[in-house]
Amino acid sequence: MTTPTLLEVQGLVKHFPLKKDVFGRGGGVVRAVDGVSFEVLKGETLGIVGESGCGKSTTARLLMQLLQADQGELIFEGAGVNTRALSLKAFRRQVQMVFQDSYASLNPRLTMEDSIAFAPQVHGLSRELSLARAHDLLARVGLDPKRFAERYPHELSGGQRQRVNIARALALQPRLVILDEAVSALDKSVEAQVLNLLMDLKQAMGLTYVFISHDLNVVRYMCDRVMVMYLGQVVEMGPSEAIFENPRHPYTQALLRSVPSMDPDHRTQTPPLAGDPPNPINPPSGCRFHPRCAQARPECALQVPLLRGDAAAHPVACLLYPASHPT
Ligand SMILES: Nc1ncnc2c1ncn2[C@@H]1O[C@H](COP(=O)(O)OP(=O)(O)OP(=O)(O)O)[C@@H](O)[C@H]1O
Ligand SMILES: [Mg+2]
Repeated sequence: MTTPTLLEVQGLVKHFPLKKDVFGRGGGVVRAVDGVSFEVLKGETLGIVGESGCGKSTTARLLMQLLQADQGELIFEGAGVNTRALSLKAFRRQVQMVFQDSYASLNPRLTMEDSIAFAPQVHGLSRELSLARAHDLLARVGLDPKRFAERYPHELSGGQRQRVNIARALALQPRLVILDEAVSALDKSVEAQVLNLLMDLKQAMGLTYVFISHDLNVVRYMCDRVMVMYLGQVVEMGPSEAIFENPRHPYTQALLRSVPSMDPDHRTQTPPLAGDPPNPINPPSGCRFHPRCAQARPECALQVPLLRGDAAAHPVACLLYPASHPT
């Protein structure tokens, strides 16, 4: 049985224009997201990984419609987003996001209950019902409403604030929650507690997650499937186990080698990624990874490898694999 799709993403493109200098030089664009297509399946946790600057957050903001895409479409439960079938407002209620910075996300002048009750009130729920929902959510995220409802952000620890941010994200009863480095700033022991809370909430509330993290060990622990990005594109996608046990793209292989191993016998001495750091302003021809790839062949500089295959499979965009060859 195949899991139904919650959100389908087709051909997303987002280029940020660069400012010209006073002589009119420069200009050009940052190709932050450059033709990204994937599906988020109902009830799954989909991880997005890749080096800093590869376009993870930009993809997340495009999914949230916080940014307008230059090209591409979002289809939520079969209905095109921002069409007559599904208005932007109706879609936005279904998708919420939690960011890394727990402090900046909260208004310092609002108590925790008012912070959580804010969005439901804006959406027309009475103050009384909104506060009741806020208290229920505080309890669900492990903060006793009697102790925490009337506190201000500065009276909470980082972990407690992030719990409030999670409660706030859930206040409109969304279907999809995007977690962009949501636990990355927390201490390891607090991080583990918040990750377990996220898994419990997902189960209890029937949520679907898109989970973005630098920490591949955390991604492995949390995610059902993983999407690997390089310079604004998807290079490999598949079930977590396939990605971590049998990475196919040379970039994914290098990324995994860079994960600190718990086992001292398996520590590598050689740096996993050679060559220039990626530049999204002027990406290399052909396969964007080829200048850093130990296995690159001449054709890799000339041909753009394609990512093909369905969500359950393990597609890879690399010319070493026959299915990736453009026909
Ligand atoms: N508003 C913007 N204006 C110009 N360039 C931007 C803007 N937002 C992002 N970029 C650029 O787009 C590229 C992708 O950025 P993005 O934040 O999506 O990467 P990321 O994968 O989330 O990185 P990190 O792991 O560091 O969070 C980067 O080169 C970044 O500098
Ligand atoms: Mg980011």
